[in-house]
Amino acid sequence: MNMNYCDLVRERARVLYDAGDQSVSHRMDHIERVLLHARGISTSFPDVDHELLAIAVLLHDVTSPFNRKHEHVRLSMKTARDILDEIGYPPDRTERVVRIIAEHSTEDPKNGLLSSVEARVLFDADKIDGAGPVGLARAFALFGQQGHSPGAAIGWYRRKIETALCHMQTDPGRKMLLERLPYTREFLEKFEAENARSLKE
Ligand SMILES: [Fe+2]
Ligand SMILES: [Fe+2]
Repeated sequence: MNMNYCDLVRERARVLYDAGDQSVSHRMDHIERVLLHARGISTSFPDVDHELLAIAVLLHDVTSPFNRKHEHVRLSMKTARDILDEIGYPPDRTERVVRIIAEHSTEDPKNGLLSSVEARVLFDADKIDGAGPVGLARAFALFGQQGHSPGAAIGWYRRKIETALCHMQTDPGRKMLLERLPYTREFLEKFEAENARSLKE
């Protein structure tokens, strides 16, 4: 069977995204949605290297243990390098993929534009999956897996969305995020109001 690099990466990554301690919000369904958003954004950027982008999307959260979220970028960079070495991906392109992954998170956001168009597209595609109904559900799912109540997710989630908004990298990505924000903010306000009322009673 003649498989291309993306297929080989997908085959290996899928197993790791299903691993027991992987965050339930960073499994293969997240990756499929980020791929879809990335494809949409990249239509505005004719210079995108589609193979590099797809491989970086497939591997960007590949090692995200639910209780070590703050380490997931470093861990995923290492796993990405191991997988790409194993399948014989060209070393110079491996370094480019690892750099794209290094720049994807809001936990350590860089100011200004990221170092490549592929990094900019991944950053935005990833943040879009953090907003709207899917993003809200993902935040609650992760906090639940960590043993926290739904209310505990709210403050963290608000900060994450505001950070994402400040750092969006592309016009189409920003537009897609903004489209999701009215629902997101209304949900958070209603949630907080009900939660505060129940605490008072
Ligand atoms: Fe991530
Ligand atoms: Fe992600």
